[in-house]
Amino acid sequence: MTKKTLGLDDRLHNYFLSISGRESDILRSLRKETAAHPLSQMQIAPEQGQFMALLVQLLGATKTLEIGVFTGYSSLAVALALPPQGRIVACDISEDYTAVARPYWQAAGVADKIDLRIAPALETLDRLIESGEAGTFDFAFIDADKQNYDNYYERALQLVRVGGLIAIDNVLWGGQVADPTVDDANTEAIRALNAKLVQDERISLSVVPIADGLTLALKR
Ligand SMILES: C[S@@+](CC[C@H](N)C(=O)[O-])C[C@H]1O[C@@H](n2cnc3c(N)ncnc32)[C@H](O)[C@@H]1O
Repeated sequence: MTKKTLGLDDRLHNYFLSISGRESDILRSLRKETAAHPLSQMQIAPEQGQFMALLVQLLGATKTLEIGVFTGYSSLAVALALPPQGRIVACDISEDYTAVARPYWQAAGVADKIDLRIAPALETLDRLIESGEAGTFDFAFIDADKQNYDNYYERALQLVRVGGLIAIDNVLWGGQVADPTVDDANTEAIRALNAKLVQDERISLSVVPIADGLTLALKR
């Protein structure tokens, strides 16, 4: 038995990937294209995409939300795990980043599942709430600007059904959240949300130390 989560050195990480990785060709191609992008580090890790796909299947999700699309890796991973009638409302402000995603969504046969809304995500989420879609989503993934994380969380909590899941990316923020000398606005925003969620009785909580840290909040 080990008392704490194992750190993965390169050898163990490679082994971990060799016994768990099931990335499809289309996801691998998108990851390779994104690797040439100057902001490629924004993309989620393949093992995280695979984990989120499993969560979506476990939930039996058909209606999902994504806040932060970039070049579309997480949307593609989730869309491939959804049944044919499944849908993602995908929020981003960048036409340029998401233009990379569209051909991959087409090639994978999931473009019809992804309803991309180019606008500040708070506007899109407020519009969904105003139009009566609160309580209708099965799954939400939060991975956009960190200083709005709490705003995204509060809206996502309205939009998911009881028993629906909110996944929040980057909650360990490269370790900076645990470093008291770091006090920039992004780090402080993630710290504040982490501290809030551990006390939040509206959800069941697990913080999973996969990739950059993924909080799972199940709506009670
Ligand atoms: C970390 S990336 C998302 C990565 C993506 N989930 C993936 O798997 O590749 C963050 C994204 O949030 C978007 N973003 C930043 N501010 C936003 C806002 N106010 N509203 C919507 N999207 C925003 C950025 O354009 C960027 O594409």
